[in-house]
Amino acid sequence: MTDQWLNQVFCEDALSGLTRIPDGSIDLILTDPPYNLGKDYGNASDQQTVDDYLRWTEQWIDAALPKLKPNGSLYIFLTWRFSPEIFVLLKKRMTMMNEIIWDRRVPSMGGSVRSFSSVHDTIGFFVRRKDYYFDLDAVRIAYDAETKKARSRSIFIGAKWLEVGYNPKDLWSVSRLHREHPERADHPTQKPLEIIERMVKASCPPDGVVLDLFMGSGTTAIAAKRCGRSFVGFELNPDYCAIIDERLAALDLPPVVKKKPAPRKPAAKAAPKATPEAPTKATPKKIAAAKPKPAAKRLSTAV
Ligand SMILES: C[S@@+](CC[C@H](N)C(=O)[O-])C[C@H]1O[C@@H](n2cnc3c(N)ncnc32)[C@H](O)[C@@H]1O
Repeated sequence: MTDQWLNQVFCEDALSGLTRIPDGSIDLILTDPPYNLGKDYGNASDQQTVDDYLRWTEQWIDAALPKLKPNGSLYIFLTWRFSPEIFVLLKKRMTMMNEIIWDRRVPSMGGSVRSFSSVHDTIGFFVRRKDYYFDLDAVRIAYDAETKKARSRSIFIGAKWLEVGYNPKDLWSVSRLHREHPERADHPTQKPLEIIERMVKASCPPDGVVLDLFMGSGTTAIAAKRCGRSFVGFELNPDYCAIIDERLAALDLPPVVKKKPAPRKPAAKAAPKATPEAPTKATPKKIAAAKPKPAAKRLSTAV
């Protein structure tokens, strides 16, 4: 029998929902909680007093950590506003491996005049034990042809790293999902799949399970599914839950294959009509009118 909680996003409060999950069953907690910056998620989760926010954060962390396997990991999205406090909280319970800076590639336009505009999110990467799962090879970035050429001198020959690609490092420049982005769903703080999939591939084994307590538009579930991992999570807002359902269902659709239009058969030449009338003079206008019109451009068919 498959586990009832696996590959499901429950439309409920994460704190109560966590009781569904057996302790020690999760490989990766990958979560993007409210940052407490006053956003409207259709609930008050991002509009708490600082004390309430930090108390609540500690509460869900303590409820979530027992679900993790001993060699499991945790990634948490934050901003500079509360990452110092929350990192300290986590460092008392786990080992911090990285602070990853997500540079959202915000274009330079106006912004604050009394401080520097903030254009990054802060991501903490934590583990429980030294033998934590980590597959760097799954997320290496290929060198471009120019770099490879530049390093083709004999001292680099046989350099394995040149072939396998480089470590993505801890500064990730990935564009945020602006309104016109094809990936964009109707959620104010949706994260790009590129980032979430990198975390899943690096820190969740292929047969593993990813937990996200705050699914939003479901990016973690989508990423897990696309990478062949299992998932479980929660989301309070029913409108966002509907978006998650839609996004997950879209993954089950057969891929859109563009069919080449079938080659057109050359039109059979019409036999000249035997006519008793005298042949008409072919003016240039008439010649043009007699030419077959090009067929209207056909759209390729999607199946
Ligand atoms: C920062 S957003 C997550 C965005 C998500 N990573 C994405 O890519 O779409 C945080 C989400 O947590 C949800 N949330 C807040 N409190 C919650 C709770 N107690 N239980 C479950 N979800 C909650 C909010 O409704 C919001 O959609």
